Amino acid sequence: MAGARVGAGAMLGKGVFVGARASVGARTRVQNGVSLFDGVELEEDVFVGPHAVFTNVKVPRAFESRKAELATTRVLRGATIGAGAVVVCERTIGEFAFIGAGAVVTKDVQPHALVMGNPATRVGWVSRAGRRLPGARIAACPETGERYLIEEGTCRLLAEGEAPTDTRPVKLQDLAAETAHFQAPLRKAFERVTKSASYVLGEEVSRLEVELAARIGVPHAIGVSSGTDALLLALMTLGIGPGDEVITSPLSFFATAAVIARVGAKPVFADVEAVSCNLDPMAVELAITPRTKAIMPVHLFGRPVDLRIFELAKTHGIAVVEDAAQAICAKTPSGAVGALGTMGCFSFFPTKNLGALGDGGLLTMSDPEMAQRARMLRVQGAKQKYNHLLIGGNFRLDALQAAFLSAKLPEIERLNERRRANAAAYEHGFRELVAAGKLRTPGLVEGHVYHQYVVHTPARVELAKRLAARGIETGIYYPSALHLQPALAALGHCEGAFPIAEAACREGLALPVHPWLDGGQRERVVEAVVDAMR
Ligand SMILES: Cc1ncc(COP(=O)(O)O)c(C=O)c1O
Repeated sequence: MAGARVGAGAMLGKGVFVGARASVGARTRVQNGVSLFDGVELEEDVFVGPHAVFTNVKVPRAFESRKAELATTRVLRGATIGAGAVVVCERTIGEFAFIGAGAVVTKDVQPHALVMGNPATRVGWVSRAGRRLPGARIAACPETGERYLIEEGTCRLLAEGEAPTDTRPVKLQDLAAETAHFQAPLRKAFERVTKSASYVLGEEVSRLEVELAARIGVPHAIGVSSGTDALLLALMTLGIGPGDEVITSPLSFFATAAVIARVGAKPVFADVEAVSCNLDPMAVELAITPRTKAIMPVHLFGRPVDLRIFELAKTHGIAVVEDAAQAICAKTPSGAVGALGTMGCFSFFPTKNLGALGDGGLLTMSDPEMAQRARMLRVQGAKQKYNHLLIGGNFRLDALQAAFLSAKLPEIERLNERRRANAAAYEHGFRELVAAGKLRTPGLVEGHVYHQYVVHTPARVELAKRLAARGIETGIYYPSALHLQPALAALGHCEGAFPIAEAACREGLALPVHPWLDGGQRERVVEAVVDAMR
């Protein structure tokens, strides 16, 4: 149309309409059957696939007086609009962005973003050459080798020799990254459950139970409301109560000891080993009395406990309730944790290696009668509705949480492997500090799933401060040993009772080890620790 601006070297296909107030930049190619109505501005080197659609009316109603108000849509330099894509008016498509065929763009698109679907969402990044970039912070185009910086939802070409400093915070946990990674299967799970309108127990929970039982290697897995409730239900199923003693670790989350007290039994602590931070079998042996009904070892930070504890329990005819809250899929030569003792208890708290989007837990066991009893106790002690044979509780797992967990479960081994790779990089990076006796590390342990990677140093406070100054978050697990918790004061323990656990509480510092760390962040952690401890 007269008045339209069309740059040098632009190519317009068959049936292309260009409005008087539309513009087409130099070298831009518009394929067959595209209408560039007034207000559509294509910069130079843009590619528009056949039958792509641009709208330009702000209020598209035949009877609406504002139908004449036109909006501007800008497609910036080098961008690609796929065949049959629809771009809603008033949007800006950033430089070198790539709109997949048939996508419906309803929002502005970032430079270099690859978007697809209806409504279009970003699924990755593309280079100037139109090649998909790998998922790294600094990503090279597979065709040209040009390097791009992908950071905080943006992507930009790096200048020759430019080495951007990484100032991103290194978080102890990164649930946002995890949720983003699982977005598609989580949405599917949500849709499936809301369609079924069955929200508590039911098929989703049964399916998860079967999947987890197979992975852990146990005949029975029972989905419950939390890790705490798994522990409580285990003790209730075993009939442990007043007059009984349960031996456990003073270095754990409070729930471990609290559930023993909740059923009216006495928590009996045994000290831990300095390196593993797990129960010391010799200390456990010394703590056994005729009233001991169970040992509750904790696979702390994802490291399986010493297998001699299970032999001890067998010799003394007492049960073992494994607190495997932090150790899903951790392995030993005798099998996976949760399959080693009388019962295994897992937590699906969001930050755990397998985390729900809320609370959840699992109880595992081999004995079919106990499994039946635990299933009854889970639903107020009822075998059939309104026929209560036992005093139980509401320990049910939600269907939504089970569905979310099933969505994440296929990747658990891969994610645990990434944790192990992070731990291996730290072990390598800290080897000189360890040799010089400046730092104690957990070591590289077969079967460990590194829920946390905890180093020990008397200079913990200083180290944490130095790391924080470089944007690296750390954590303390745990600031106080359980025997010194005010709620357990009636047990009568004082400081010095379990010196190794107490020292771990004074000196332990958890470094980020989660699977969403990238190589650059891992290096920053190593460098920062080495600089601080030099
Ligand atoms: C060792 C240990 N035991 C028990 C629990 C309790 O699990 P939940 O938070 O799911 O109740 C946790 C969770 O933090 C834990 O780390």
